[in-house]
Amino acid sequence: MPKNTFYITTPIYYPSDKLHIGHSYTTVAADTVARYKRLRGYDVMFLTGTDEHGQKIQRIAEAKGITPQQYVDNIVEGIQELWKLMKITNDRFIRTTDSQHVETVQKMFKKLYDQGDIYKSQYEGWYCTPCESFWTKTQLVDGKCPDCGREVELTKEESYFFRLSKYQDRLIKHIEDNPDFIQPASRQNEMLNNFLRPGLEDLCVSRTTFNWGIPVTFDEGHVVYVWVDALSNYISALGYMSSDDSAYRKYWPADVHLMAKEIVRFHSIIWPALLMALGEPLPKQIFGHGWLLLEGGKMSKSKGNVVDPAVLVRKYGLDAVRYFLMREVPFGSDGIFSNEAMINRINSDLANDLGNLVSRTVAMIEKYFNGSVPGKGEPGSFDNDLKSVVAATPAKVEELLDRLQFSSALAEIWKTISRINKYIDETMPWVLAKEEENNRRLQAVMYNLAESIRIVSVLIQPFMPETPEKIWHQLGIEDLSLVSWDSAKNWGVYPIGLRVNRGEAIFPRIDLKKELEELSKLTGGMQPSANSSHVPETQAAEKQQEKPQGEEDLISIEDFAKVDLRVAKVLEAEKVEGADKLLKLKLEVGAEVRQVVSGIAKHYAPQDLIGKHVILVANLKPVKLKGIESQGMILAASADRDLALATIDKNMDSGSKIR
Ligand code: ME8
Ligand code: MG
Repeated sequence: MPKNTFYITTPIYYPSDKLHIGHSYTTVAADTVARYKRLRGYDVMFLTGTDEHGQKIQRIAEAKGITPQQYVDNIVEGIQELWKLMKITNDRFIRTTDSQHVETVQKMFKKLYDQGDIYKSQYEGWYCTPCESFWTKTQLVDGKCPDCGREVELTKEESYFFRLSKYQDRLIKHIEDNPDFIQPASRQNEMLNNFLRPGLEDLCVSRTTFNWGIPVTFDEGHVVYVWVDALSNYISALGYMSSDDSAYRKYWPADVHLMAKEIVRFHSIIWPALLMALGEPLPKQIFGHGWLLLEGGKMSKSKGNVVDPAVLVRKYGLDAVRYFLMREVPFGSDGIFSNEAMINRINSDLANDLGNLVSRTVAMIEKYFNGSVPGKGEPGSFDNDLKSVVAATPAKVEELLDRLQFSSALAEIWKTISRINKYIDETMPWVLAKEEENNRRLQAVMYNLAESIRIVSVLIQPFMPETPEKIWHQLGIEDLSLVSWDSAKNWGVYPIGLRVNRGEAIFPRIDLKKELEELSKLTGGMQPSANSSHVPETQAAEKQQEKPQGEEDLISIEDFAKVDLRVAKVLEAEKVEGADKLLKLKLEVGAEVRQVVSGIAKHYAPQDLIGKHVILVANLKPVKLKGIESQGMILAASADRDLALATIDKNMDSGSKIR
């Protein structure tokens, strides 16, 4: 029976001097999925590559005094080496300068022109070169690019246009009918509310003011707009419109296009519209994860953080870096990257929890049984609980990985590891070892430990390319059928009589203080060693950065009790003159009426708020906003550009306390 196929992609990256940990984030995530799906028996196609055309690349090359081709050739090689170092298992690597890609894009462009979906006109508007993105005057924010906050250029040139507007309604319907199409859901709302429902304009798809791009075959001087060129990689890499399109027929539509949130717009609007025009099926899912940021928002202004993935891998080992990337931040949210957080994770989760468990177990089997567990021994207390926790883990991990919830999947595995460690404390093998009559009980404890570790070693395979084998070696496992994915679902597979091998610690502890000093020397105390020009340096990034919660950030219940939260009913709402973000609200709070000014005008019409039961922070010091006194604040959730008021699930009397 032929295997089910699974097609996953990363964005194709712009060649820049050095990719940083942010790029590795998407690539490692995609690789984790690819490995997982292969383990589950899928025929996987995993694609990554480089996006080599466009005005931005042409300008960088000119500034360096070399041709764009020389520039990209040199850099792409470094990128490919990085992925090798990180053991990325991509099946293909596409470069948009590959001749097959160029031909496919030319054929697609011609087909769309011949059928009337592309027409010639005049472009007049704004262009953000760093984002390679067109904007209308009204879309600009303070005259700057709304995505990255940088300068835009006024552009006026003869251009071809793609009838994007024609696909607007079909696109809205597709998104509404397929809630999994754009994930996480907040990004789906952003696309619908901020771009699709306000209306799409036709898209400029050729440029004439520079030449580093794919030539339009039927009109000299025009090159294809770089985003149309780039997006097409996902099908050109499979041979679409070429003499051999068997891979296209086998793998398309893609199961997941993975990327960070800033390019979800291109993937969920332009890309599906192009596919609709071509009469091809749409990808099943577009997943926009969050950004890795440095304290202070931008990677380039970091203080003493090394963000070069190659340096990190050489210092701490590949599996530690990959573990940290997938563990630290819930996939979908923004998160802070810091070397300190990474070292802490390595020490606690890897060196302590997993590493110690393996070395203690192997050491005990050596000490008590001369290096091999002689039998399954005698059952006793704690065994059933251990077994049931371990046995329940594979299904949980599968369910979470199927939804790309890497961090939660690892959290489940590590909860199980804690349970196994607790089993050692509970059974106290060193006490059992004192009495010969407890020998069979001790056998069982050793067996259960070895078997639990075997199951954990199977489950970490998608995340860690190197560690599972080290564990197998220590447990004496050579027969790989003992560690197939499905073997994790069976208890009792670890064979009696295997000889364990004491080895080095699989994750050595790192001296945090010494290491931070060394890193700070590496970065000259201030600057990161890597070129990090590519981290989104946006206003949005600065605004959105939030500190992830570490232990030291926790508050006590007394701290929380200081905040007086109350149910409040909206009596009146009106716009504030001269402030387009603010609404003035009159709220009923029990017997009292409060006036609150709130920055929600972009998201709520005043009349829609009347009668809503919202949550008021009632003991906040009053402030004046635009000259109007605000007596407290109402709570709302915000993500990207979306905002939603927190309301009460049932009708409750205003003034009721929330705790
Ligand atoms: O946008 N945090 O390429 P690009 C998380 N060529 N992810 C990050 C990140 C960070 N700080 N920085 C980069 C382009 N990324 C286009 C794509 S696709 C048809 C064309 C990752 O080199 C993330 O996946 O700017 C983001 O979407 C991508 O790199 C952007 O890479
Ligand atoms: Mg970018």
